[in-house]
Order: sequence, then C-alpha cells, then structure tokens
Amino acid sequence: MLSKRIEKELNNQVNAEYWSAYFYLSMAAYFENKNLPGFTNWMKVQYQEEISHALKFFDYINERNGRVLLKPVDAVKTEWKDEIEVFDDTFKHEQKVTGLINNLVNIALEEKDHATHNMLQWYVSEQVEEESNVNEILQQLKMLEGNKHGLLMLDRELKQRMFVDETNQQ
Ligand code: FEO
Repeated sequence: MLSKRIEKELNNQVNAEYWSAYFYLSMAAYFENKNLPGFTNWMKVQYQEEISHALKFFDYINERNGRVLLKPVDAVKTEWKDEIEVFDDTFKHEQKVTGLINNLVNIALEEKDHATHNMLQWYVSEQVEEESNVNEILQQLKMLEGNKHGLLMLDRELKQRMFVDETNQQ
C-alpha cells in the first residue's frame, strides 16, 4: 500500500509526464509547420516516450493499490524563434524533470518506501539518457547555425528515430 504522500507525489508526476508529452507534441507541430519531417518525427517519438513514462507511473500506482487521479494538463508553449531555441527549451525541461525525479527519490527514502525507490531507479537512468540525447542535438545545432545544408542533413538523420517502449526494461 502506498502512503498518501507518495500516492499524491506519483500522481503529480503522471501529470508532469503528460505535460511533457503535450510539450513535445507542440514542438512536433512547430516543426511540421516548418517542413522539417525529421525534427517532427523526433518530437513525435519523444511524445510517445513521455506517454510511456506516464503509463509506467499509472500502472505502478495501481499495482500498489493506489488511486490514479488525472488532473488538467497546463497549456504549453507553441512558438519558438528557431531550432536552437526549441532544443534549448527541451534541454532545460529535461533538467527540470531530472530534478522532479530526484525529489521523488528523496521522498521515497523519507517514507522508507523501498519498492517505490526501486521503481524510480528506472527513471533516474532514463533521465541521464534523455539529457544526453537532447544536449547532443542542441550542440550539433549550435555548430550548424546558419548552415541550411547541414540542417537538412540533421533532419534526415532525425527521421530515422523510432519509438521503442523501454519501460519494462531494467
Ligand atoms: Fe519523462 Fe523526458 O522524461
């Protein structure tokens, strides 16, 4: 059984993951509008990843006999100056999510909830990957600034990304 505090915090994280999904879908719409299919694809895959993150929390709350309570998803940004600003926002966002996950780990320790602490380790590792992937693209975009040919090459590369549900892996 989950403590009320953990149940509330995990429900907050379900909402945060759905907000992330919505945020990435908004970026996909932005890139779609700019005719950059590879960037659009990357953002749509990211959207799917965030939905899978939300569902992992959803399933865990239910598995521990908690109650999932879905809250409204706040509005997300819809316009950006350029590709660099999008990935700069993305990187800052993932750093913020890492902070949220670390905070959950601290709460699980305070509540002596070892099962939740154990489950959260998947997210701890995932955040290292999330930050690293986004930062790599951000740095490449900074190197390319103003180079349209390079941007189209990167777009072609980002088109290759495919969604793989990794939430059941350790
Ligand atoms: Fe759910 Fe992008 O971390």
